[in-house]
Amino acid sequence: MPDDLTPDIEARARFLAAELTRHNHRYYVLDDPEIADSEYDRLMQELRDLEQRWPALVRDDSPTHRVGAPPLAKFDPVPHTVPMLSLDNAFSDDDVVEFERRIRRLLKNDGPITYTVEPKMDGVAVELVYRDGLLTQASTRGDGYTGEDITANIRTIRALPLRLETLNNGALPAILEVRGEVFINREAFRKFNRERLAAQLPAFANPRNAAAGSLRQLDSQVTAKRPLHIFCYGMGTLAGRAPASQSGLLALFRSCGLPVNPLVQTCANIEEVLAFYRSLEDQRETLPYDIDGMVIKVDDRDLQDRLGSTSRSPRWAIACKFKAVQATTRLESIDVQVGRTGTLTPVAHLTPVSVGGVVVSRATLHNQDEIDRKDVRVGDTVLVQRAGDVIPEVVMPVVSKRRGDERPFRMPDTCPSCGAPVLRTEGEIALRCVNADCPAQMKERIRHFASKNAFDIDGLGEKLVDQLVSRGIVRSFPDLFALDEATLAGLDRMADKSAANLVQALQTSQTISLDRFIFALGIRHVGEHVARILARQFPDLAGLQSANRESLETIEGIGPIVAASIAAFFSRDENRDMIQRLLAAGVRITAEQARQGAALAGLTFVLTGTLTRMPRSRAKQMIEAAGGKVSGSVSRKTDYVVAGASPGSKRERALQLNVSILDEEGLWAMLGL
Ligand code: IVH
Repeated sequence: MPDDLTPDIEARARFLAAELTRHNHRYYVLDDPEIADSEYDRLMQELRDLEQRWPALVRDDSPTHRVGAPPLAKFDPVPHTVPMLSLDNAFSDDDVVEFERRIRRLLKNDGPITYTVEPKMDGVAVELVYRDGLLTQASTRGDGYTGEDITANIRTIRALPLRLETLNNGALPAILEVRGEVFINREAFRKFNRERLAAQLPAFANPRNAAAGSLRQLDSQVTAKRPLHIFCYGMGTLAGRAPASQSGLLALFRSCGLPVNPLVQTCANIEEVLAFYRSLEDQRETLPYDIDGMVIKVDDRDLQDRLGSTSRSPRWAIACKFKAVQATTRLESIDVQVGRTGTLTPVAHLTPVSVGGVVVSRATLHNQDEIDRKDVRVGDTVLVQRAGDVIPEVVMPVVSKRRGDERPFRMPDTCPSCGAPVLRTEGEIALRCVNADCPAQMKERIRHFASKNAFDIDGLGEKLVDQLVSRGIVRSFPDLFALDEATLAGLDRMADKSAANLVQALQTSQTISLDRFIFALGIRHVGEHVARILARQFPDLAGLQSANRESLETIEGIGPIVAASIAAFFSRDENRDMIQRLLAAGVRITAEQARQGAALAGLTFVLTGTLTRMPRSRAKQMIEAAGGKVSGSVSRKTDYVVAGASPGSKRERALQLNVSILDEEGLWAMLGL
C-alpha cells in the first residue's frame, strides 16, 4: 500500500537513518556510545520495518544496507586513478635526518618544515570512492595501479560512513577518493581466533592476515561478522578544492565522519618528529591495535607537489619501522602434538630466546606443507616471531648458518601417541589420527570437557588428566563422575584435601546448561557459538540427537560441514552410549536453560505448501506451544518460512527478502520431533 506513505512516516525514516548513523559513529569512531545496544537494535528494527513496508523509503546509504549484497563469483578489477604507491623505509634516527636533508636539498629550503606524523597501521590498504558524498566503490591496493573491487565487504565496516557528513560550509567534493588501512583490534582478534579454534577452524597467524582474509571473502555476510575497523590517512582524486596540507586533509576527513587515528600529530620540526617516534614506540604494546612503525609526511601540499614521487614512493613521506619482534635461535627438535579431534600439529622446540621481552621455547610449524614451503629442518637456526601475543611461529630458516647436519622433517605415518595410522582428509591440509580411543586425543578431549566454558571442573589440571588417562582410570567422559577420593588421593601430587575438593567440584559441575553440554562434547566444528545456536534451536538433547543432516543444515548459522559433523557424531552408537552414561552418572541439563533453548519464543514462522506428517493447523499449534508465532504472510520480520511440498509464492517472497527457508524436517527438528 505505497499510497499510505505519509510525510510523517518519511520524516520518521529519515530521522531513524540519521540517528543510527550518528550512533554508529559515536560507537565505532568516537568510542563514546550514547545509547545501549538494545536501544540501537530497536531503532534498526523500526527502520527495517518501515523500509520493508514502504520500499520507496530505502536509500542507498541506509544503515540497514551494510550487509545483503549477494555473494560474488570473483572480484572485479578496479583501476586506481592515482597510483597507490608504497613508502620508503627509515630504520634509524640517522635515516630520518637524512630524509629531511634530502627534502631541503630538493626544495632548496632552509626554513621551517612542518610534518604530520601518523602511526603506521599494520593492516590492509584500501581505497574508498565517495561520489557526491555516497560510498560507491572500494578496492584493494593490488599492484598499486589496479586493485580488486571489495565494495560489499567494505560496506560492512561499521566505523565507515556510507554517506559523508556535510562539511561546515555545506559542500562535499563531487569525488573524494579516500585511502586508509583496514585492521582488526588485538582484543577482537584474540576473541575471533578463540572462536575459530573452538570450532576447529585454523586460527589466523596475526590480525593483519585476519583482516586481509576477511576482505577477500566473496560473501560479504562472512565479512560482516569480522571485527574490521579502519583509519583513513590519504587521498587519491579529489574533485573540488583540496586541503592545503595533510593535517587539513585529516581534519576534512574527521568533519565528514571518516575515522582518523586520534594519535596523529603535527610537528613543527624533525626533533619533534623523533620525540613522537619514541613516545609511539613506548606506547606500542599498550595500543589496542598492531602498528609496525610511524609514517612521516611533509604537511604542506605545495611542498609535497614540488617534491613529487619516484615510481615506487613519494619523496615527501617515509615510514619509520619499529624493530621487529623477531629473534633467531636454534630449532632443537620437532615434536608432534595430537589434538582433541586427532589433528597432528608439528611444534618446534627451540633453544629459549627472548623475543621482544618474552622468552620463547616453542613455536608452531602449522603443518607439513608449511614446513616444506619454508624448508625448515631440525638443527636449523631459525627466525622466530611473535606477532601481538599470538602463538610464536617459525618464520624461516637462516640458510647461511647451515652446517650440513640439519635434518629435514617428515610427519609420521602413525600417531605418535597410539600408533594408529594417520590420514589426510580430502580437502584438508592437516593429518589426523583415526583412532577414537587414542589416549592423546582422549587427554585433550577431557581437558576440553573440563574447561571453563564447558563443564568448568575446578582442579582437573593437565597433569592430573595425563595420569588419569595414562593409567586407564578415565577412558571416557562418564568415568570422571565415578572418581572417588580414594582413587584420586592415590595419584601423584594429590593430597587428600585436593582429592576431596575435586570430587566436590565434579559434583557441582554436573548441573549444566544445554549449550555448555553440547560444547563440552567436543564435536568437530562445534565451538561455543555453534553450541549456543543448537541450544537455542533444540528443546533438549533428544531433539538434537535425532536431527538429521538435512534439517541441521537448514538452521541459520549451521553450514553443511558443521551439520554433517554433528549428525555423524550423534549417529555413532558409542557417542549415544556415552551420553546415556553421563546422564546416568548424574549429569543434569538445567531445566531453565533447556526451556530457553526449547522456546521458539521470539521467532515468527510462515507455513506454506503441504506438510506430510500433520496438517498445517496442527503444526501451527505446535509452534505456538513452543512459544513461536505463525503468521500468514512473509515479511522481513519473518524468521523462517517452512516450505512443504508445492510451496508457491511465499517461498519466492522469502528468497527475495533473504528470509531463511526451512524444509519440513527442519521444522520438526526445531520442534524436537
Ligand atoms: S601513507 C603514498 N599513512 O603503509 C603513501 N600509509 O608502505 C601512501 N600504511 O600501503 C601511504 N598506515 O598500507 C600511509 N598512516 C599511514 C599508514 C600507511 C599504514 C601502510 C599502507 C601503505 C604502506 C606503505
